[in-house]
Amino acid sequence: MNLPEQVLYMVSATAFVLGVRFMGSPRTARSGNRLLAVGMIIALGTTMMVVPRFGHWAAVLAVVAVGTAAGTWSAVRVRMTAMPQMVALFNGLGGGAAALVAAGGWPLASGAAGWLAILTMILGSLSFGGSVVAFLKLQEWIRGTAMGLALRVVGLLVLAAAVALGIFSGIGNTTALGVAVSLMVVTALSGALLTLPIGGADMPVVISLLNGLTGLSAAATGFVLGNQLLIIAGTLVGASGTILTQQMSRAMHRSLKTVIWGVRVQSRASHATEGSVQPITADDVAMLLRYAKKVVVVPGYGLAVARAQLEVKQVTDLLQGFGVEVLFGIHPVAGRMPGHMNVLLAEANVSYDQLWEMERINSRFRETDVVLVVGANDVTNPAARTQAGSPLYGMPVLNVDQAGAVVVLKRSMGKGFAGVDNPLYFDAKTRMLFGDAKHSLSQLVRELEGTA
Ligand code: TAP
Repeated sequence: MNLPEQVLYMVSATAFVLGVRFMGSPRTARSGNRLLAVGMIIALGTTMMVVPRFGHWAAVLAVVAVGTAAGTWSAVRVRMTAMPQMVALFNGLGGGAAALVAAGGWPLASGAAGWLAILTMILGSLSFGGSVVAFLKLQEWIRGTAMGLALRVVGLLVLAAAVALGIFSGIGNTTALGVAVSLMVVTALSGALLTLPIGGADMPVVISLLNGLTGLSAAATGFVLGNQLLIIAGTLVGASGTILTQQMSRAMHRSLKTVIWGVRVQSRASHATEGSVQPITADDVAMLLRYAKKVVVVPGYGLAVARAQLEVKQVTDLLQGFGVEVLFGIHPVAGRMPGHMNVLLAEANVSYDQLWEMERINSRFRETDVVLVVGANDVTNPAARTQAGSPLYGMPVLNVDQAGAVVVLKRSMGKGFAGVDNPLYFDAKTRMLFGDAKHSLSQLVRELEGTA
């Protein structure tokens, strides 16, 4: 490879590394995204320069155009609540593409590169098969509930068969197209079978795990093709997918072993919740908030469903105008995908300084006058601390019950994702403002404006 191309690849790799770094904070995430896009454009352009035998430019440009159109359409049209399945699908395509590229390069690869091509086909196809099933589950086109052990065992046996096929063809140096196709089909099937029994609740962990696999397969393809940029980009994806998997497992109180291997389905029976709930009207909530000193807003999945981020911002602006200190308490798995709440609130231009992560905000609840829970449920459930039999037991939650008063905005007494009752609603200091969050918050805006 010539020096200019090497330099361009370095520039692109640097953009990838810095872009991922910038994605680490909501403040810099937009710049990170842009930088990553620039890195990708440079990478695509340079690749077209360095691989003249791929230089059927019209064909390459046509493929890039199709991909760009599909990606742009999805980014614009797919609803925020459907992001997890979109990520699953894109991830699967990445794995599938890596496997196909490796299959193409396999006959030309010898020695270690040949073995890496086999590894790539296995990892990429595994990720493809698993991601397609994850997509179908999240899209609710197939059943999302957890299934028993039998399917997991069959999945493992099929995977073992695929690995055996890979080893034998590697030893025998049989690089025929038929072998490559069989290897990819059988491995993709094992990925599908292994993902099928995993319940919807664990899907985000599975997706980040598959994401890690896709990254590793891309990195391995880089070795097969001798392409340093692919090695760097694949390793970045592989490492970040693995770290995210660990972090999410921890936040959802699930070990990776229990996600993949399954656990006995715990009883989802309701836990004893005593007393009755106390409804409240929007004008009373407005008064409560207006004369508070410190208010913490806790957003959850219901905020995304109601698409009420702009209204929540309006409420907090009005309160700040009255001199009330307002913060947001962000639980790492609030909503249905990592960073869900941050993305929603950023859309409404909520200041990043107001977004406090769980560890930080939890020590503040004792000195908080009112907590406004907007469509959050499981992430506020005190049973996670106290009820050993609860499916939530041990999951770190936002300790909103330690605040002076709690107002919960939700439509009904409907349960959250974990399907358990929330004793918070029966707490003497909790008031329930029933209704769609967007509607309730609009009412609050009107009431607060009326008191100005
Ligand atoms: P949930 O526990 O799912 O509770 C959401 C609540 O929002 C529901 O109880 C629902 O009650 C209410 N709601 C729905 N639509 C609403 C609307 N239009 N207006 C007002 N309220 C509405 O949400 P959470 O507290 O954010 O917790 C997230 C859960 O999802 C956790 O169990 C977590 O483990 C799980 N999970 C998270 C992820 C990630 S990575 N974030 C991925 C998968 C699963 P009503 O029906 O009564 O309105």
